[in-house]
Amino acid sequence: MPVVVHAVDQAEFDAWLEGKREKARAVAEAVKQTLTFQQLYEQGEAVYNKNCASCHQADGKGVAGVFPAIAGSKIATGPVAEHINRVVNGGVGMPPFGEQLTPVEIAAVVTFQRNAYGNNMGDQIQPIDVVNFKQGQ
Ligand code: HEC
Repeated sequence: MPVVVHAVDQAEFDAWLEGKREKARAVAEAVKQTLTFQQLYEQGEAVYNKNCASCHQADGKGVAGVFPAIAGSKIATGPVAEHINRVVNGGVGMPPFGEQLTPVEIAAVVTFQRNAYGNNMGDQIQPIDVVNFKQGQ
């Protein structure tokens, strides 16, 4: 396989680095926040509709034999770590979201799934929980 080297000049490199720093700062700021249940749930619903409903469906019932339901799901009503793990790392036929979504978005969508569609876990996941999970794995 040929190795393609993409040469960048200093200005391009600086801009790239600044972009990375900007993103890291934004994530670091967001992670310090403690959100209310309401904020997590509402943001989580939006994240779900945009990223998850195409497979798990808007009513959370999934598609029998293809995409599991979130309503009554063992993972969405089980230990939090397994739920975060599924979203961060994906599964068979499910893409990983650990890089695609921010810790705030992951915390929000996990909180939403644990408390929507008749799932009544009554718990809430904060962005820092997602960061700790990712660092611990
Ligand atoms: C491309 C389709 C697809 C998308 C998009 C998708 N999932 Fe999944 N999801 C799956 C499949 C398939 C499984 C079963 C994976 C397995 O068992 O290994 C699954 C399993 C799950 C489970 C466990 C359900 C159970 O009890 O077995 C949860 C929770 C979950 N997904 C959350 C999410 C969240 C949150 C999003 C959006 C951020 C999402 N999924 C987006 C296809 C998808």
